[in-house]
Amino acid sequence: MPRRKRSAHKLRMHLESGAGESALFPPPAERERIDDLLTRDLMDADRRVAKGSVIPRIDVARFRSELADLDFQVPRPLDELLSWTIEQMEHGLVHVTHPRYFGLFNPAPTFPAQCAERVAGAFNPQLATATTSPVAVEIEAHVIRAIARRTGFPPEAAGHFTSGGSEANYTALLCALTRSNPGFAAKGARAFEGPPVFYVSRESHLAWIKIAHQAGIGRSAVRLVATDGFGRMDQNALREAIAGDRIGGCVPIMIAATAGTTNAGMIDPLWACAELARANGLWYHVDAAWGGAVIASDRLRHVLSGIERADSITIDAHKWFATTMGCGMFVTRHPQVLSSTFQVSTSFMPSNLPGLDPYVTSVQWSRRFLGLRMFLSLAAAGWSGYAEHVERSIELTDLLKDKLVALGWSIANSSELGVLCLQPPPGCGDVRSIVARVLASGRAWVAVASFEGSDIIRACVTHGETTEDDVHELARTLDLIVETGREQQPFGGR
Ligand SMILES: Cc1ncc(COP(=O)(O)O)c(C=O)c1O
Repeated sequence: MPRRKRSAHKLRMHLESGAGESALFPPPAERERIDDLLTRDLMDADRRVAKGSVIPRIDVARFRSELADLDFQVPRPLDELLSWTIEQMEHGLVHVTHPRYFGLFNPAPTFPAQCAERVAGAFNPQLATATTSPVAVEIEAHVIRAIARRTGFPPEAAGHFTSGGSEANYTALLCALTRSNPGFAAKGARAFEGPPVFYVSRESHLAWIKIAHQAGIGRSAVRLVATDGFGRMDQNALREAIAGDRIGGCVPIMIAATAGTTNAGMIDPLWACAELARANGLWYHVDAAWGGAVIASDRLRHVLSGIERADSITIDAHKWFATTMGCGMFVTRHPQVLSSTFQVSTSFMPSNLPGLDPYVTSVQWSRRFLGLRMFLSLAAAGWSGYAEHVERSIELTDLLKDKLVALGWSIANSSELGVLCLQPPPGCGDVRSIVARVLASGRAWVAVASFEGSDIIRACVTHGETTEDDVHELARTLDLIVETGREQQPFGGR
């Protein structure tokens, strides 16, 4: 059937109603009106979030039924939808932007990163090729070079932005496999004489397990090396594991040291790992997904000494560098390995430039302009601004430590970064119930984790707007909870 042409009158009516297709592409005046409204609503919500509960207060069953009413049959005005969405988000999330979110490394995002999201969304460049988005590709490469230089990598180092630390670590494993055996590209794991294996500590981020699965070498390829009682990879255990694997017919591929373990902020012995990797001809990766941000501080960056010897590194922009979520970085001193790992050619892509076009040097194909968030943040604050950010975070961590130790708490870890593994005074209840009560209070967010075999309360102080008052408030909340716990014990628990 031939398509009926819309009359000019009908089209005008349709556009003016603001519904249907015109809701997708409203006229400029309407966009401006809604943009202003959105900015104001978000600022107001932000202010309320900072004063409200850190944890969600929403009735999920009620929310589900409200959501079910939105069946997409009748178009709704966008301004109402935005207000509704903001209200639901305000009450329906753990607020990582709350200054008393002492949680995982999900940061309160920098304002430049939020601006970058708008700019990237507005132009929506496709970063698969440098031919289509030369400016965006150059900006990303410029930031990656700056990160590489700051980490002590040679000038030829290269890399790219990733969706996060897991993708960057996955990239490292693929590079290690590819360099280790040129047959891997065509035959996969079958190219090796025995099962390929790699080494991380048991305190590493266990996305490694999924990564091994994705890479097709199987989850059993991950060797979880024992730690030394302080959360760092034990070098004797590592040496023995490599030797044992060789004797057993496995093929060691890579050592991945962690520089800032997720639970405890511990840094594996980076020099010793580098030596072992070199002696055994293995790829050496350093996962500095969150700890890597200390490269910004001249005073503190020495804690990562040895990272410059790595073949590749992971540093997330969306952790301590505090960009919005979905932004990691991978850097390697062997750009040619990236090219041989990800090369491919098709007729429809506008170019195929190894070393330049991101789709032939990384996991992703179509890609968002991720790096703008790090570019604008770094350019606006400079390294010195980021240095202040990480140094302040460590000062606040020390303040929390001092306060709690004075109240009888113990600190299980000895991290030089911004995370504490807390243990309550004896006889004051178990950490799970303490954390449950902190969360129920809505005053702060901390996590239960395990460190060297014991349950601990994990408090991470990496939020850029947390103040000393917030730290005092967390210490007060914890103290109040354990005091009540103590009173509930027979004989006051003493
Ligand atoms: C040390 C470390 N590596 C890797 C990851 C995974 O990163 P992402 O969640 O960005 O994929 C994390 C996340 O917390 C981490 O702490």
